[in-house]
Amino acid sequence: MQQIKAIAFDLYGTLFDVHSVATQCDIAFPGRGKEISQMWRQKQLEYSWLRSLMNDYVDFHKLTMDALLYTTRSLGLAMSEELHKELSSTYLKLDYFPEVPNALRTLRNRNVKLAILSNGSPDSIKSVISNAGLIEKFDYLLSVDPARIFKPHDSAYNIAEEALNLHRSEILFVSSNAWDATGARHFGFPTCWINRTAKVFEEMGQTPDWEVKGIDGVVQLLERA
Ligand code: LAC
Repeated sequence: MQQIKAIAFDLYGTLFDVHSVATQCDIAFPGRGKEISQMWRQKQLEYSWLRSLMNDYVDFHKLTMDALLYTTRSLGLAMSEELHKELSSTYLKLDYFPEVPNALRTLRNRNVKLAILSNGSPDSIKSVISNAGLIEKFDYLLSVDPARIFKPHDSAYNIAEEALNLHRSEILFVSSNAWDATGARHFGFPTCWINRTAKVFEEMGQTPDWEVKGIDGVVQLLERA
C-alpha cells in the first residue's frame, strides 16, 4: 500500500449499482424488473467479452442496448424503440452504493490521484458520474474506448498506466467484479476486490491482494499503511 500513488476504480457494479435499473424495468414490465436486470447485465458482459475475442469493437452503450434487446426478446417481452432507448438510458443514471461519496471524500484528502477505468464509453462514464454529482471527486475518467477492446484485455488496463504516467505497481485497482479484479491482477496492478455479498473469487490462478466489503474498506487499508 505504501507505494500506491493512484487508485483506479471500476465503475459498473463497483461504485454504482447496475441493478438500480431494475426499478425502471419493473415499471415497464411489472414483476419482471429484477429478472430483466440480471439477464441484461450478464448479456452485456458476455457481449463485451465476445466482441473482444472477435475483434469487433462497438462502444459499451451500444452493446448495452443490444443486450437489453436480447433480454426482452429472450423473455418474450415486447419493447418499442422508444422504450428501448428509455430503459437503456437508465444505465446513465445509476445509483451509487451508499458508502461511496463519503469514502471518496476521505480519499480525496489523501495524497493519491483518483481515477475511473471503465469499459463504459467516455460519454456514458461522464453521464453516470455527473448525474451522481461526483465529478469533482476524480482526477481522471478513463474509458477503454481508445484501445477498442474491453477489460479484461491487457490493452484496456494499459490505458490507466499510460494516462496516469505511473508504473502499474503504483496504481491500486479496485473492482467488485471478480473477473475484472482477475484481469487487473494478471496485468500487474495491486488489486483490491470489493466483495459486498460474500461471493467466491474466480478460479483462474489469480488472487486479489486485498479483499474488503465496500469502498470504505479501501480507505481503511490506506489508513493502516
Ligand atoms: C466497468 C464494468 C464493465 O468496466 O464493470 O465499469
